Amino acid sequence: MKSKYLYLHTIGCQMNVYDSEQISMRLATLGYEQTSSMAQADVIIVNTCTVRAKAEQKAFSLLGRLARMKRSQKRLIIGVGGCVAQQEGEQILKRMPAVDLVFGTQAIDRLPRLIQQIETRRCRIVDVDMDAAPAIPESLVGSQNESQVSKFVTIMRGCDNYCTYCVVPRVRGRETSRKPESIIAEIRALVETGVREITLLGQNVNSYGKNQRLCTFPELLSMINGIEGLLRIRFTTSHPKDLGSDLIRSFGNLDKLCPHIHLPVQSGSNRVLKRMNRKYTTEQYLDKVAKLRDTCPQIAITSDIIVGFPGESQADFEQTLELVKTVEFDGLFAFQYSDRPQAPAVKLPDKLSEPTIRKRLQILLELQEKFTRRKNQLLVGSTQLVFTDGLSKKQVSAQPTEIGPDVQWTGRTSTNKIVNFYLDELAADCENLTGKLVCVHIDKGFSHSLFGRAINVEPSAGGLKGVENYAA
Ligand code: 5AD
Ligand code: SF4
Repeated sequence: MKSKYLYLHTIGCQMNVYDSEQISMRLATLGYEQTSSMAQADVIIVNTCTVRAKAEQKAFSLLGRLARMKRSQKRLIIGVGGCVAQQEGEQILKRMPAVDLVFGTQAIDRLPRLIQQIETRRCRIVDVDMDAAPAIPESLVGSQNESQVSKFVTIMRGCDNYCTYCVVPRVRGRETSRKPESIIAEIRALVETGVREITLLGQNVNSYGKNQRLCTFPELLSMINGIEGLLRIRFTTSHPKDLGSDLIRSFGNLDKLCPHIHLPVQSGSNRVLKRMNRKYTTEQYLDKVAKLRDTCPQIAITSDIIVGFPGESQADFEQTLELVKTVEFDGLFAFQYSDRPQAPAVKLPDKLSEPTIRKRLQILLELQEKFTRRKNQLLVGSTQLVFTDGLSKKQVSAQPTEIGPDVQWTGRTSTNKIVNFYLDELAADCENLTGKLVCVHIDKGFSHSLFGRAINVEPSAGGLKGVENYAA
């Protein structure tokens, strides 16, 4: 029988990356093999994002290209999933005649049946039902290939917060948590296939389990911490209003929990925070930052900020700059405010002009870059424990590669800083370092990464002497 091929294009956040893996595994049950060649594909799926207008435009421009491709490949099946699919539904079929399937954020487990219907009947289908099935289908665990040593695990979906700029509650639905037993079973299964690091995903992990009376998020973390063979636990994202003292304590108690928290502040002005419906003040935010640093002095804190929210005055913006100077984040994602038709802020008055927003964004990014670079440079001369993801980007583009002393690797410190490195001559024989913990001596600090040489591979406890960032 002829093999069938699936080409998957993922836009957006880590949640979409996870969903795409689930899509791929579900279509594998119909005999679809994933391909990296669009031309070879029998089915092309675009997993979309609508958090900002740019992401949505990206999806439509790709769909435009695919429509042209389909003119010469009539049997090609084109599917659109994710948040734009959920938001636009049938409109996509109207606007894009080449699209065969639109499936929403809660239709992934129904996908094999939908694709089969299209294969046999060549019909066009929209499935954006949000109440049809349990919101969280059971996750599948596939056989991992060697390079997959770090994986995402979704622990909850949806969001109940209704920040006024955000479309997520409209396209991802109400907050629903997976049962702890199911999460633990998935992680155990992943660990058996060689995974050593997991990142727990949810729009607001701090409210995990709350509306269903499951265990709390810190309790879940503690259970996961007990899984043998797992080295590192990360999670994202936390809402500052729900960050409690029990979670802060987890950073002091759980040896596998990486000392890094992504804690989006969004603005440094209380007036703006109120209009964003964030439900905390900058004073409360700073208090939580201080408590985190008290409990775990080495903790890295990263954040998201939206620049140019409707009505943001120059004084509001300056307060944001002040907050950034006070906290000294390890990293910052800053976004221009983007009007989303389904988010309440679209109706707010006093929208800012594009040039003003762009200018403010630039000022903010320049300020932050100084802090990121300074923090990275402070690590020069130290030894960091790095979990190796694989070959570095530079190495991958310089194919072909034979593993040897000239090969450049990439990994992350427990504080989530990217480290590119070579294997020092003094270290063990050259080997595939993917998935290995290595002690890296840091020689250089840039604004987005560190550079160094590995001096010890898979160090035992004794070999960790002098390693500053030792939490595994
Ligand atoms: N415009 C700009 N940025 C946004 N984000 C969410 N919605 C918008 C919007 N309408 C940002 C927030 C959030 C991150 C994932 O995306 O900072 O934390
Ligand atoms: Fe959007 Fe706010 Fe929910 Fe985050 S917490 S997904 S920003 S509504």
